[in-house]
Amino acid sequence: MSNHDNKKYSSEELSKMSNAELARLGAELDDVTIAYRKERFPIANDPAEKRAAAGVTIWLALAVVLGLAFAGIYLFYPWHYKGLGEEGLWLYTLYTPLLGVTLGGCIVSLGVGAVKFTKRFIPEEISVQRRHDGPSEEVDQKTIVALLNDSWQTSTLGRRSAIKGLLGTGAVLAGIGMILPFGGMIKNPWKPRHEVDVTGDGTLWTTGWTLVEKGEKVYLGRDTGAIAEEGHHGYSTKGVSRLVRIRPEDLSAGAMETVFPLPEGDVNDGDKYSKEADVYEAHMHSIHGSRNSVMLIRLRAQDAAKATLRQGQEDFHYGDYFAYSKICTHIGCPTSLYEQQTNRILCPCHQSQFDALHYGKPVFGPAARALPQLPISVDEEGFMYAKGNFVEPVGPAFWERKS
Ligand code: FES
Repeated sequence: MSNHDNKKYSSEELSKMSNAELARLGAELDDVTIAYRKERFPIANDPAEKRAAAGVTIWLALAVVLGLAFAGIYLFYPWHYKGLGEEGLWLYTLYTPLLGVTLGGCIVSLGVGAVKFTKRFIPEEISVQRRHDGPSEEVDQKTIVALLNDSWQTSTLGRRSAIKGLLGTGAVLAGIGMILPFGGMIKNPWKPRHEVDVTGDGTLWTTGWTLVEKGEKVYLGRDTGAIAEEGHHGYSTKGVSRLVRIRPEDLSAGAMETVFPLPEGDVNDGDKYSKEADVYEAHMHSIHGSRNSVMLIRLRAQDAAKATLRQGQEDFHYGDYFAYSKICTHIGCPTSLYEQQTNRILCPCHQSQFDALHYGKPVFGPAARALPQLPISVDEEGFMYAKGNFVEPVGPAFWERKS
């Protein structure tokens, strides 16, 4: 506050002053010098003022329309995933761009409208004020409110109800547009999304390996990294096998490989290969299944002889081969690092370590539970498959689980 005026004002004096008087007093007390001030439209009913108002209105109306369009698309658009060749793929691929264009357009239009309004209607003014120390006195508090009132009146916003309404609505819609996407995170974790398929059923209890319980044969699938390429007849995934069955001899002693569930119906390799079969999409679903990845470890023979087997899971391994869930039991990172000299499995997120010779039990770090082990075997053709499901949910603990 200024030291420039020593007069003290009582509450009674202040409440008797009009808003204009308080605003003037506030400027004086704050040592504000208005060096330059010019109204944008000093003459009433200036046609230029009407044109300026129309320009602002158009931008704000556009913001409202785009905001409503965003909300409509977010809530009602057919957003469910469609694979290559499926009906509705074109509409599905437009979903994200439409959300981006409408929300981005809403925010940009709102910004342009607000800037245009400021430039066309707020009086041009250059003021200079000296800084002061200490807390504000009552007189300052009252006069600042008066100054804000004065700004509101001189901005003419109070009497421009159309612009005021559109500005408010546009701001609300833009705000809703930013909050609405969080709605996609609200899910019922107990409600199955679908029947169990190669990604599980969408709950924490299942994985792609759960298909074994449904009577399906599920092989251990090795990721080849194969991708579909542009051919003479355009982009096609026919004949592309992303996952192939694995044999024990594919791994040398002390090696580890990440494998994914490969249901028998999706096999397209070896003597079952057909260049007309289109299994690429199914293989990618398996790889992307959040609880599907499994570490297949072939222990060195001298280490395997020392392995401690978990009670009730003595036959889960196949010779020197052990399959552990790759999902860390701490908070779910991939425990990808296997060190063959110590037979430790390391999770890089918070350095939990698991002992591959001791049924994957944690030996260091924050993880408290062993990595679930997948029961495996080899069929008559020499391919590795899951002879059962995990006996416990994979990944971090959650309230309902018992172990
Ligand atoms: S997620 Fe693996 S140690 Fe934290």
